[in-house]
Amino acid sequence: MTEKLQIYKCEICGNIAQILIPGSGALVCCGEEMKLLNIQHDETELGEKHTPKFENNDSGRNVNVIGHPMTNEHYIQFIQAYSQDKNELYTKYFYPEEEPKTNISFMPENSKAVEYCNIHRLWGSKDN
Ligand SMILES: [Fe+2]
Repeated sequence: MTEKLQIYKCEICGNIAQILIPGSGALVCCGEEMKLLNIQHDETELGEKHTPKFENNDSGRNVNVIGHPMTNEHYIQFIQAYSQDKNELYTKYFYPEEEPKTNISFMPENSKAVEYCNIHRLWGSKDN
């Protein structure tokens, strides 16, 4: 059984899929079950570089990832913000050299966030 907003990856072709409406079946790609990406978080330097941070400033409320490379080989591919009830979801994609930062002023105040690094995969804050 899948859960709303879970993210799965095909280890063969690299497809990434997200559950919008859960069902009872397994996700299959390239003839194999896709791998569930668990949300990682820890207090190490690696965790610090990958944890999405919330920040309020004159432009509103933002989510960003601070201190992470944004090269062709290693970069943050997207940040997602979602409401606690998971009924609102926002995704911002990034390219290498871009700043991994996005405005989420329109999202509920207590929204959560995750980010996806092309090498180190999915990370979120502690309460995700
Ligand atoms: Fe990374």
